[in-house]
Amino acid sequence: MSKLLPNLLLTILIISLEKTSAHQKFREYYHWNLLDYAFPSLEEKLNAILTRKFIPENNLPVGIEVWGDKIFITVPRWREGIPSTLNYVTINDFVQESFKSPLLIPYPDLKSNEAGNCRDGLTTVYRIKADQCNRLWVLDTGTFGIESTTQNLCPYTLKIFDLKTDRIIRKYELHPEDIRETTFIANIAVDIGRNCEDAYAYMSDELGYGLIVYSWEHHKSWRFSHPFFNPDPVAGNFTIDGFNFQWDTEGIFSMVLSLPQGDGHKILFFNPLASYREFAVSTKILRDETKVNNSYNDFIALNERGKNSHITAKVMDEYGVEFFTLIDINAIGCWYSGYPYATNFFKVLHRDDKNLIFPSDLKIDRKRNLWVISDRMSNFLYRGLNPTEVNFRILFAPINDLIQNTVCGIY
Ligand SMILES: *[C@@H]1O[C@H](CO)[C@@H](O)[C@H](O)[C@H]1NC(C)=O
Ligand SMILES: *[C@@H]1O[C@H](CO)[C@@H](O)[C@H](O)[C@H]1NC(C)=O
Repeated sequence: MSKLLPNLLLTILIISLEKTSAHQKFREYYHWNLLDYAFPSLEEKLNAILTRKFIPENNLPVGIEVWGDKIFITVPRWREGIPSTLNYVTINDFVQESFKSPLLIPYPDLKSNEAGNCRDGLTTVYRIKADQCNRLWVLDTGTFGIESTTQNLCPYTLKIFDLKTDRIIRKYELHPEDIRETTFIANIAVDIGRNCEDAYAYMSDELGYGLIVYSWEHHKSWRFSHPFFNPDPVAGNFTIDGFNFQWDTEGIFSMVLSLPQGDGHKILFFNPLASYREFAVSTKILRDETKVNNSYNDFIALNERGKNSHITAKVMDEYGVEFFTLIDINAIGCWYSGYPYATNFFKVLHRDDKNLIFPSDLKIDRKRNLWVISDRMSNFLYRGLNPTEVNFRILFAPINDLIQNTVCGIY
């Protein structure tokens, strides 16, 4: 036995190494034709369908986060029939093929996802962020609808959960001065400094062209304005999965924080959605409320990435390697932030014209896996989805396998 064991271990090791080298790219973890939810009972589910509180074909997953064994999935209330906007499914590596489309479990529960209940409910959630202090930062836009159909049922409210107790530990309603007539905020970045109290959220106002900063410690917010938040008028033309449409008013959207720099502060990299250019600003500026009207020269314009490089989401690992979605070409790219922001330092790591149509969001877990959700969003909005096909996919890949022997594989 004792002689056999090392041999057995060696064999297992070799098999798993072969497996990873054979599957260097993303593997599909879960997939759905249409989303379905875990209702408390079958009666409640049937009742929800009958009363049109649940209309499966109207549900589109847009944002993810991974914490512990939970994959959080957000579903905005763009149309009728969304039972719950904040949900999760459980990671289970030994799941059988027949359970590859798990039911979404409302988080923290179904009742807390009641639309229009401004005190105790979540109305619409897009991007969410778990921090290293086991808090989940959730921005509830309070909206129902999309584009011209949007109604503001409740004010924009930051709701922060303790992931260990599943309780809301902080709520902060944005002030009227923080928002504009056209405000639409779908994305947040979370900046943890010296300790868990020294925490800031940066919220990008995509259609109002501003950046709202919230300080956890001081429990207050302020709004930056800058021309770099605007869309580029020549970069609003999108063709995805063969379909051409314009998102030409979409300004500052995806954001990612760098590693701490020499002065202890980080750099916030951001891009307007209708733009091929990247911009940067130090968190030292953003954290300083007196700078809101007085920071023109503190923002930096980096290079353009070139055609077909609209980005909806980016993340950075603990070594400074950034990963980003490339929605025009159904791909995931990378850039090591120790190199200049220039095309010869970018790498398309994975491209898939069937399984990665509209990679909407991506996140890194604590075991250094990169997780991506693709959702065919532009098809959903403008052409409709085919419910007999797989439309939504969660894929993952170990980061080290993804970037080895690429320009991003610097360690
Ligand atoms: C937008 O993109 C489509 C498809 O590539 C192209 O045919 C069209 O000329 C573009 N429009 C503009 C104004 O660039
Ligand atoms: C910044 O400008 C806005 C609009 O002009 C003004 O309301 C606000 O008081 C200014 N804030 C600071 C800190 O100067």
